Amino acid sequence: MNVADSEVVASIMGEAGYQPTKNIHDADLILVNTCSIRENAEQRVWGRLDLFRSEKRKRPQVVVGVLGCMAERLKEKLLESDKMVDIVVGPDAYRDLPMLVASAGEGHKAVNVLLSREETYADISPVRLESNGVSAFISIMRGCNNMCAYCVVPYTRGAERSREPATIVREAQEIFIAGYREVTLLGQNVDSYSWINQSTAGREVEGNVSAKGSSNIGFAQLLGMVAEIDPLLRVRFSTSHPKDLSDEVLETMALHENICKHIHLPVQSGNSQVLERMNRKYDREWYLGRVKAINTILPGCAVSTDIIAGFCGETEEEHSETLSLMKEAGFDFAYMFKYSERPGTKAARHLSDDVPEKVKTRRLNEIIALQNELSVASKKADIGKVFEVLVEGKARKNISIVRDVESNISATDKMQIKSDNHTTMMGRTSGNKVVVFQTQDVKPGDYVMVRVTSATSATLIGEVERLKGL
Ligand code: 5AD
Ligand code: SF4
Repeated sequence: MNVADSEVVASIMGEAGYQPTKNIHDADLILVNTCSIRENAEQRVWGRLDLFRSEKRKRPQVVVGVLGCMAERLKEKLLESDKMVDIVVGPDAYRDLPMLVASAGEGHKAVNVLLSREETYADISPVRLESNGVSAFISIMRGCNNMCAYCVVPYTRGAERSREPATIVREAQEIFIAGYREVTLLGQNVDSYSWINQSTAGREVEGNVSAKGSSNIGFAQLLGMVAEIDPLLRVRFSTSHPKDLSDEVLETMALHENICKHIHLPVQSGNSQVLERMNRKYDREWYLGRVKAINTILPGCAVSTDIIAGFCGETEEEHSETLSLMKEAGFDFAYMFKYSERPGTKAARHLSDDVPEKVKTRRLNEIIALQNELSVASKKADIGKVFEVLVEGKARKNISIVRDVESNISATDKMQIKSDNHTTMMGRTSGNKVVVFQTQDVKPGDYVMVRVTSATSATLIGEVERLKGL
């Protein structure tokens, strides 16, 4: 989400004559895009601001700005801190940046943290920053209406609004033409994407249009529209909300081979009472029912999740239900967090953050240990299978190093380390698993069929069988 926002900012500032630089000492303007979701995310930003302050002490003409969720949450407080911040800009005010930067250049500190009900930056072509040239993110909606009790996002990013589908499809087409082979459609809750075609809707009111042909485009339709751009364009999306993930979306995924078979479906907790306190609007049975629907409609589809350990009032028994749900769902991957109280949220106002830190840590460690076992099992089950892999680039580690360090689970390890003129490349399966393999003649953006020969807990290791289609 933040990468996509930074790319919008880069585009807006590009129009105003600014170019990105990799060297902070060359920068006339330093912008830090921030996340407030957990306290440690904010702590990292404070650390970065120390670094920027020392740059500003050396070069006082540099303008320093804080963007995004922390800007929205802390507003003027950021200007009042000792960090020498000049501008504070919330997630719906990026169009105002050139003006705010100019006035900061004249010595006027500035804040714009107005949230909008309409802003989607639909007309802005993001400048792809630090991209691998293969995969790109497209924001399809902004904000969130869900009000999960622990979450600060509805306060920092405002109400949910969807972006016009034609602009999304156009952006995906442009990306494909530029050589990209994968788009990830982004939203806090993509399943509630909804666009009502105003002109048709208006005519319906006048009674000139028959009830046939609904004017509403939901997420399933949008997904189909993007998938139809080209079979060589992979389509991913994130994040799905269990209460809204529909069979229609699963059926659309089944219909299009290029829609990746991976769903990120945050569960947060395996206990229905905790889910109720979290205001998640589903219970354990509903969640497991959605996983069953995924497995039925999309056999082999990967499912990943987010889990929070030690939410307000969580008992030992409630925690153990998270562990049992993890086993039942058999997650391929998970992001796992300790509950961190965020000021202003429903939980901060009405619930007591009463699970002791030590207990939170122990529960999180149990969750991580179990997920590690599940991730290993999921990767081991892939050994011997052939996957279509989209090549992203050179692997950071050579295969031989990967195996030496993490060889503990390299079960049927038949890989031969080939001669030096083979490069270790990496790519992803449709299920979003990283695969490394040695090859002579593939480049980023190619599709290859790879047979998995062994695995570490994080990576599959394979051999190229053939280029796709040969
Ligand atoms: N404490 C811990 N984790 C949180 N998340 C969101 N808010 C909090 C919080 N206050 C996690 C959720 C969410 C992910 C993006 O971050 O698991 O799905
Ligand atoms: Fe936060 Fe819940 Fe919205 Fe996700 S769905 S952004 S967890 S409020």
